[in-house]
Formats: sequence, C-alpha cells, structure tokens
Amino acid sequence: MPYNPLNFFAESVGEMAVRTVRKMGDPVLWQRAEEVGQFDTPELLALIQDMRDTMDAMDGAGIAAPQIGVSLRVVMFGVDENPRYPDAESVPFTVLINPVLTPLSDEVEEGWEGCLSVPGLRGIVSRYTRLRYTGFDPQGNIIDRTVEGFHARVAQHECDHLDGILYPMRIQDLRDLGYTDVLFPGEDLPDD
Ligand code: NI
Repeated sequence: MPYNPLNFFAESVGEMAVRTVRKMGDPVLWQRAEEVGQFDTPELLALIQDMRDTMDAMDGAGIAAPQIGVSLRVVMFGVDENPRYPDAESVPFTVLINPVLTPLSDEVEEGWEGCLSVPGLRGIVSRYTRLRYTGFDPQGNIIDRTVEGFHARVAQHECDHLDGILYPMRIQDLRDLGYTDVLFPGEDLPDD
C-alpha cells in the first residue's frame, strides 16, 4: 500500500501519543520528506505534539517527522543545560517547518552524535560550525536565525533526516562509529 501521511493523522488527532521511533533500515528514513503546505491545522499540530511527546519520552535532543513515520518536512530540537551534554550549550526548544539551512562559512568541526533511529551507537560527524536557518513555526510565522556550535549541529542533524540522511552516512571512517556503552563506559548516555 502506498505511504499516506493522512492515515497517521486519522489515528492521532486529539490524542497525546508517544509514537514508535522508526529505526535505521526503515525505508521512510531514506525518503525526501514533502513540504508542509498548510500551517496551524489540527493535523499539523497533532503531529507536532506527537513528536514532542516522543522526543521527551526518549529523552532526545531532537526529532524529525520521518522518525515517527511521517514524511513531512518538520523537525524540532531543544536542549536544556544538561550534564549529559557537558560540552553542549543549551539550545532553545524550536519547531522548524520546511527548513532551509545555509552554511555561513566552510568551517567544520567534528563532534559526537547519536540518533533515536540508530539506538545504542555514537559517531563522530563533521558539521558546519556556523549557519543560518530559515523556515516556519507551526502557525506559519517565519523563523530566521544565525546559529553556531551545538545549536548548528543539532539543526543539521535533524534537517538531514528530511533528506533521507542518517548521521552514519556522514562518517568518513567507520571506526568513528561505535557502541555507546563501549565508547563511554559507565556514562549511561541516552540514544539520541
Ligand atoms: Ni536523528
């Protein structure tokens, strides 16, 4: 049966729901997600609520709609001051729809990443250090920010999901990918 995001909406409107996170190997994670055409609809707001519920339940730093099986260009991210990310500045909670990322220089830096769709693993990924992102909030208001560091990394990771890219695909040397409990023994890090 062809994929139809409306099937998802029909079963989720008006309910709070932690949804199953799709894991690497699921074809929905390889697709280019479609633009959102209408803002501030009950369906869109329900999707966003489910993403938030799921991200919070999984203790994630971010999530993209395809990760709960909805191939639409919606991401969210946010990190409070957190001992789990000792070298990470906090990132304001942001819902970003139809995002466009523009690197502001060629400068990149390496950093550890994880992903709810790739549980139990961490990898070193190069990301642009400074970028501008534009897009829309759930009501259709324009978001336009210049960000750097961990905020820029999280935005790039989440927006990659909308183009069918998981972070292991960005790793040059697969020795930079490993099991979290081997790489960081005793730290009990979450899957994101
Ligand atoms: Ni991810």
